[in-house]
Amino acid sequence: MAEQPDGLRSIQDFIRWGASRFNAAGLHFGHGTDNALDEAASLVLGALHLAPDLPASFRDCRLTLAERVRLAELIERRIAERIPAAYLIGRAWFAGLEFEIDEHVLIPRSPIAELVEVGFDPWIDAERVGRILDIGTGSGCIGIAAAVYLPDAEVDLVDISPQALRIAQRNLERYRLSDRVRVLESDLFAALGDRRYDVIVSNPPYVARAEFERLPPEYHREPSQALLAGEDGLEIVLRILDEAGRHLNAGGILVVEVGNAQPALEGRLPDLPFTWLEFERGGEGVFLLTHEQLLKAQPLIEEALYS
Ligand SMILES: C[S@@+](CC[C@H](N)C(=O)[O-])C[C@H]1O[C@@H](n2cnc3c(N)ncnc32)[C@H](O)[C@@H]1O
Repeated sequence: MAEQPDGLRSIQDFIRWGASRFNAAGLHFGHGTDNALDEAASLVLGALHLAPDLPASFRDCRLTLAERVRLAELIERRIAERIPAAYLIGRAWFAGLEFEIDEHVLIPRSPIAELVEVGFDPWIDAERVGRILDIGTGSGCIGIAAAVYLPDAEVDLVDISPQALRIAQRNLERYRLSDRVRVLESDLFAALGDRRYDVIVSNPPYVARAEFERLPPEYHREPSQALLAGEDGLEIVLRILDEAGRHLNAGGILVVEVGNAQPALEGRLPDLPFTWLEFERGGEGVFLLTHEQLLKAQPLIEEALYS
């Protein structure tokens, strides 16, 4: 049993104590929060099955002995095992929606959430979005949120990991989307035949091997298959670029997060007319290409892929 701190009684007490301990332990924050206080709040409120926006007056509520023991244990595990809070509580928020997660899926945090919340406006007319493909769906967060914000769209969620797809399936059932969202086990486009989409969206693996080795321990709690993409981080992204044109309808768009692999990608494909998107809540390294741009660039992409 974790050491029981003296004198802590309320929700607020545990958030404060957790944050102090996290700071003292020099933890890394980057899985839905970016500082010790928010990480402690997320862990404490999540473990107590309370909403993240719990009104301030309830934060003074006292906890039962069993709750205090449980919270002390979770805070200890966050420090000793370097497990991000989201995995400890089994939940994460994305585009204002709650998703079930476990260690088989990346913790949702893509800036693409902002784009999904506005139905991909202004890049495509929401009215003409019939079909969406989410490649490397993990928990299903991007594709499921897209289905929620675009209630007439059909969405395919694709991943190579069957364990990830089990979580995605649970999340789509939770939002009662089984009639227009489906999961498919597939190596990128392999299982899709000649199916075409209006929007292809992806947050694929894009971490280069050397960078992966240097990541803080918290990232090594996530599946390596969700992060690692060869020596330069471009292994998956180049394959997506190569095939996406054949799976987009005329007027369709491709949106892909490549994070800090952006310079490597631009170096490899200097003549591609990437539009790099900007986000109000932060985040970068997300590009957009239209179907037309992709078709024109096909020879350049093939050259980069096979050279
Ligand atoms: C960075 S995670 C993104 C998860 C989720 N879309 C999100 O934003 O939280 C990348 C996902 O791509 C999947 N993946 C890796 N290689 C793949 C491939 N060749 N085909 C399909 N999915 C792949 C991984 O299993 C992982 O779930």
